[in-house]
Amino acid sequence: MKVLVVGSGGREHALCWKIAQSPLVGTLYCAPGNPGIAKNAKCVDIKTHDIDGYLRFARSNEIDLTVVGPEFPLSLGIVDRFGEEGLHIFGPTKAAAEIETSKAFSKYLMKKYDIPTAFFSVFSDYEEAVAWVREVKPPLVIKADGLASGKGVFICRTEEEAIQALDDVMRKKIFGDSGDTVVVEEFLRGEEASFFALTDGTNVIQLEASQDHKALLDGDQGPNTGGMGAYSPAPVVTPRIAELVMSRIMLPTVKAMREEGREYKGVLYAGLMIEDGNPRVLEFNCRFGDPETQPLMMRLKSDIVPVLRAVAGRGISRETVEWKDEAAVCVVMASKGYPGDYKKGAPIGGFDEVGEMEGVVAFHSGTALEEGKVVTDGGRVLGITALGDNIQDAIRLAYKAVGKIDGELLYYRTDIGRKALQHI
Ligand code: AMP
Ligand code: GLY
Repeated sequence: MKVLVVGSGGREHALCWKIAQSPLVGTLYCAPGNPGIAKNAKCVDIKTHDIDGYLRFARSNEIDLTVVGPEFPLSLGIVDRFGEEGLHIFGPTKAAAEIETSKAFSKYLMKKYDIPTAFFSVFSDYEEAVAWVREVKPPLVIKADGLASGKGVFICRTEEEAIQALDDVMRKKIFGDSGDTVVVEEFLRGEEASFFALTDGTNVIQLEASQDHKALLDGDQGPNTGGMGAYSPAPVVTPRIAELVMSRIMLPTVKAMREEGREYKGVLYAGLMIEDGNPRVLEFNCRFGDPETQPLMMRLKSDIVPVLRAVAGRGISRETVEWKDEAAVCVVMASKGYPGDYKKGAPIGGFDEVGEMEGVVAFHSGTALEEGKVVTDGGRVLGITALGDNIQDAIRLAYKAVGKIDGELLYYRTDIGRKALQHI
């Protein structure tokens, strides 16, 4: 069959790397892709906002299955448009994707269906938001309602910080229309984990959990980023917690979406905060995580294509997925300066040496080719991912490979995976 992956990041590289191994796949395309993805798929220059471009390509190349990586094309309704034309596509519709694209919608949904989350209030009036902040007292979290490239969340320890954040988002409109509405919520303590499940709208298959490292600096210090590294499995998600998450969060959410007339198909990603064995939802995402997908794909033993195809088609009641016992760790190498300003076009080397290491894959995120050489082209540049017998081995191997990458303008955290060791 012919498969098309939409997107160009490390997540899409990991998906392409895994999909390319499927005996079911004759040709794999990725649009727009990147130089790393080009080793696994034919890259096609279609940008992620160009839904007409994807439709034309899928029709004229008789694509059997399209798999959408990022939230942006989902928020534009790529799944609805493909569906109207009878094309198979993996991902939620625009209305279902609102579980991520509107934080207010997802909070109301959780409240209505009693899905555990932080208490909150939603405001579109600045003065009312300020009054509430004064009443409930920090620490509080302020979130722009719409998509803000992962930057729309402010952890506010004081009233002044909270009012400043409200001013930036609601009056100065630093995220544009995404800040017309804000969610103000309780600050949750505990340990975070990313929990993934595949669903056809009714049946739900639990995937392995992973743990992201959102902060830029070692020890979870510094500003939040898209994610500086990840590992799987996540020991904080014990079998008992996984059971709780399935019964209290994932299954009720899929059912709730159906009852709301927004049947959810695709991968449902719950960002969790776990405190004293009690998981609560920080946010839902309507797609796979980046960088969590990199370790997940390396640990997935079974072919991913049948289950993706079944989500998009006849349903997953007969599908199963199998995992390797090994652990996987992904260390993100980012451009120095990220998540602020950074330079593009800096040369990177060492790929041949890393390519020879068994159990290691250098997934590309923000890279480009200049005169045949790989250069930096984004904030997060590479996700060096290693598989090991246990988490310690995977950490050691991942950092050994990171040491072989030659890139003066690259930065990485040195403590990815350390949190997992506390549970062992
Ligand atoms: P979100 O985009 O909602 O996942 O928020 C980004 C990050 O902000 C999360 O990964 C958490 O680290 C932090 N965060 C968000 N909401 C809360 C909350 N209610 N309590 C504590 N931390 C939070
Ligand atoms: N790693 C966080 C995310 O994908 O949203």
